[in-house]
Amino acid sequence: MKANITTLPGDGISPEVVAEAVKVLRQVATLFDHTFEFDEALVGGAAIDATGTALPDETLAKCRASDAVLLGAVGDPKYDDPLSPVRPEQGLLGLRKGLGVFANLRPVKLYPQLLHASTIKPEVIADVDLVVVRELTGGIYFGERARTTVDGARAAYDTMLYSEPEIERVVRVAFELARKRRKKVTSVDKANVLENSRLWRETATRVASGYPDVEFDSMYVDIAAMRLVRYPSIFDVIVTGNMFGDILTDEASMIAGSRGMLPSGAIGLHKPGLCEPIHGSAPKYTGQNVVNPLATILSAGMLLRHSLELEQEADAVEAAVEAVLAQGYRTRDIAEPGATTIGTREMGDLVVEALATTAPDVTLLG
Ligand code: IPM
Ligand code: MG
Repeated sequence: MKANITTLPGDGISPEVVAEAVKVLRQVATLFDHTFEFDEALVGGAAIDATGTALPDETLAKCRASDAVLLGAVGDPKYDDPLSPVRPEQGLLGLRKGLGVFANLRPVKLYPQLLHASTIKPEVIADVDLVVVRELTGGIYFGERARTTVDGARAAYDTMLYSEPEIERVVRVAFELARKRRKKVTSVDKANVLENSRLWRETATRVASGYPDVEFDSMYVDIAAMRLVRYPSIFDVIVTGNMFGDILTDEASMIAGSRGMLPSGAIGLHKPGLCEPIHGSAPKYTGQNVVNPLATILSAGMLLRHSLELEQEADAVEAAVEAVLAQGYRTRDIAEPGATTIGTREMGDLVVEALATTAPDVTLLG
């Protein structure tokens, strides 16, 4: 197939990991006989530096016109001042909203080779295989917010608003996904306190009644946070709002050993989706060739699966990552004490090499 892929290298270490994922996608194109055209665009701090805005119109237009979008991460300490009027994160949120990607699939898969990279006991995490479906274009991330005063003192508020259709469509994504997996959905909310969580729970329960083949329960977010590290294997598909999903997936990444292992793929009503690792731009490691590119490489795998519908190719990327881990190669974040570590580029090269063995022979694909 022919596909146009927009890459958004972003900030900090992000260009380094995106470069490795592009190497992997190029190898996929060669091995499977596809033509992938890559086009880069600016977002985040890099875009503010060049244009004054975190999401130039040109970037959004380019993304919309492409078949798939691969993003690294955004964020730059230079814009961390709470009073800064422009922030790199505005680019990320604008992109998610602008592409309408309301459901963010964040799979938490423990590679058996990394059982000991996690700080959680091996017997607790051994059987973990779950996906968090995080609502991505609504909730408190996008509600009205402002500075104000209360009794003469400075004050600020953010609002958490969800409409029923917004809840329903993301919950449906979770149920459809569960049908292809272990058929269990856990909806996470804070319905004992928040009104919008009560609407969330009501809606999720109604949607669940249309999926009698899928087991369903609702759980408060505090309990879910506890169970994620105590009994993580009870979960199959978790569906939750924007902020709870953000927090729970960073927590869940510790099951996989590192934030550097967790990919994500966001889908909406239209193509293209938006694939990005869950981690940030790790500015202090910029240019050192030390960070783990696997979350971004696995996000490229999700791009193949969800944006381009290339299942075999996606499987091959995941198998290549597993093969490299099985050979004992580790970046610093996932290394056992005393293990030799490799850099970002070396990890990318090894995945590219491994792909040649995990990809089926294209001449046999017909
Ligand atoms: C993530 C990140 C972003 C988010 C930040 C960078 C705005 O933490 O993708 O999880 O909160 O969504
Ligand atoms: Mg996050």
